[in-house]
Amino acid sequence: MADSSSSLGQQQPEINTAVPQTARIWNYWLGGKDNYPVDRAVGDQILEAFPAIVENARASRAFLVRAVRYLAGEVGIRQFLDIGTGLPTANNTHEVAQQVAPESRIVYVDSDPVVLAHARALLTSTPEGATAYIDADLRDPDTILREAAGTLDFTRPIAIMLMGILGHIPDDDQARSIVRRLMDAVPSGSYLTMNDGTDTSEEVVEAARIWNQSANPTYHLRSPERIARFFDGLELVEPGVVSPPRWRPEPSTSGLPPEIDSSCGMGRKP
Ligand SMILES: C[S@@+](CC[C@H](N)C(=O)[O-])C[C@H]1O[C@@H](n2cnc3c(N)ncnc32)[C@H](O)[C@@H]1O
Repeated sequence: MADSSSSLGQQQPEINTAVPQTARIWNYWLGGKDNYPVDRAVGDQILEAFPAIVENARASRAFLVRAVRYLAGEVGIRQFLDIGTGLPTANNTHEVAQQVAPESRIVYVDSDPVVLAHARALLTSTPEGATAYIDADLRDPDTILREAAGTLDFTRPIAIMLMGILGHIPDDDQARSIVRRLMDAVPSGSYLTMNDGTDTSEEVVEAARIWNQSANPTYHLRSPERIARFFDGLELVEPGVVSPPRWRPEPSTSGLPPEIDSSCGMGRKP
């Protein structure tokens, strides 16, 4: 078994159950059980202002699954760096990738102590592959890259996944410089896959306002155009930057799926 972890066992995570946390609220909307009353209270308040959030969370997660399947299948990627992992749920990145290619190696990164506390559920690798968990902050990409090198081979293509996390970095210049640092560290043929909330309806803007009053860390919506700029310098995979339900929907989907207030995309490093 090739499981490993850079962080597990080294520390007892301190879990704050008084302040709502993004990973736990997200888990609540996805139908999970790893959340506390404070998280459900804010989650419900947002649900009232923006009932589509549940559909939004599930459609975003479904994009993750289709994206990983595409990368592991059609593209042949065997290494994934999933930053802003969230709490373990159904179809975690390593499960989807290793179903297609058991030898896939996956490194998860999150800064939330609750995710760290549940990280063992992410370390159920196939014997041929490997999974690791790093307790680190996206704003410190050098630490992430250094620790990930214990599991991933940075001379071979890597898919970097930033799903629902860049909204936690409000400044575009800072967020772009983090993305650039990460993409500079991986070779040609590597991929950036991302998804984030957009300011495309009054309801979602109100939901973000409620979130930012109480939850930690704050979340900042961007326009689809601002999200598209994170792919500058990369070759966009068809159909480009779109609302998640419209990114390569399952062939069984009939008609054009309805849009949600998010933009997602995938870019290949030339
Ligand atoms: C909205 S959840 C998305 C979870 C998962 N990627 C998904 O798409 O379902 C955002 C995750 O990013 C993590 N996160 C937020 N800011 C972070 C940061 N600066 N560094 C590392 N993780 C962060 C949160 O703890 C949370 O687990």
